[in-house]
Amino acid sequence: MQISANVSSIPASKTLEVNALAQELKKKGIDVVNLTAGEPDFPTPDQIVQAAIEALKMGFTKYTDSSGIPELRDKIARYVSERFKVPCGAGQVVVSNGGKQAIFNALASVVGQNDEVIIIDPCWVSYEPMVLLLGGKAVHVKAQMEKEFVPSLDDIEGAISKATKAIIVNSPNNPTGAVYDEDTLNGIYQIAKKHDLLIISDEVYEPLVYDKEHISLYSISKGDRTVLVDAFSKSHSMTGWRIGYSVAPVEIAKAAAKIQGHLTSNINSITQYAALRAFDVDTSYMKERFRKRRDMVCSILNDLNLSYVRPKGAFYVLIDVREFERDDVKFCMGLLNDLHVALVPGSAFNAQGFVRLSFATSEDLLKEGISRIGKFVRRWNR
Ligand SMILES: Cc1ncc(COP(=O)(O)O)c(C=O)c1O
Repeated sequence: MQISANVSSIPASKTLEVNALAQELKKKGIDVVNLTAGEPDFPTPDQIVQAAIEALKMGFTKYTDSSGIPELRDKIARYVSERFKVPCGAGQVVVSNGGKQAIFNALASVVGQNDEVIIIDPCWVSYEPMVLLLGGKAVHVKAQMEKEFVPSLDDIEGAISKATKAIIVNSPNNPTGAVYDEDTLNGIYQIAKKHDLLIISDEVYEPLVYDKEHISLYSISKGDRTVLVDAFSKSHSMTGWRIGYSVAPVEIAKAAAKIQGHLTSNINSITQYAALRAFDVDTSYMKERFRKRRDMVCSILNDLNLSYVRPKGAFYVLIDVREFERDDVKFCMGLLNDLHVALVPGSAFNAQGFVRLSFATSEDLLKEGISRIGKFVRRWNR
């Protein structure tokens, strides 16, 4: 059987080799310090779990509207209107299976065969495969470490062609922890307006901005040509529940609802009732803990004289290992094999020569893991 050209065009995962070795070591009973987590290490708050149990007992176990239950869409619209100071109605909201499906729905609404989408590197792993699945082409713009991984507006504009349909912006960023400043966000909006592009603003890490207030591109554009993507995954430690949403101009929201309706119908009914309760739960304790870990991790990395950009948001640090080993997969394999610490190779994010460390794990494991990284790089006689 021939696999379709679109699916075949998706490159193999850059993390396969490292994951396979981690599994093998685990099977041998070796205690690997795993610093690869892409999810908060807190349990889902109990109030949310209780709401799900209540929903089950009350029999909310049937299909719902494919865009989400009206109460939840109303609540999201009110939250977005208040938080981002942009009037927003429930008709603009589609509740999806995580932020991931919200991004796919938005892309599928505007991207066809050979259309181009601008992606800023280092980037989250799934943007390009989604574009490829749609028969489109990802055009990469590199954000430089020297500029704290904030992209240059000239580079973005220079990457636009007649085929460009959309740009994906991810601030706070996975994997760099970069948070874009207001001028950059405004510049991106002006470019999108000038060239008639859709902006997909992936803000799933928006509650985790440590040094100042989060600035949303959705606020800057006042919702014009912008799809705001958010999720309960990182904000409420609900990664496994699969719930995110998009808030978009009505015609895009209608297209997204059509796509989702035929792909997955509604998302899990119980999860939607649980998420309704999530709006009443204060999760600032998670952010405070992540902030402390960020500070701790940066201070240890400084002591080791390692090169990185202090993350302003999310829970990742991208470490530059080019002075030791330019092949980041080789670096991660060596570190895992010899000192049993798992990191994600930067190539997975188009950041060759870097490795991603997640601080969504306990302080003790972080200290132990980073001290082993220090031991590993001492091999290069620093
Ligand atoms: C930048 C970014 N966007 C979107 C997602 C998808 O989130 P969800 O689990 O809500 O689908 C992730 C998950 O890791 C992410 O890191």
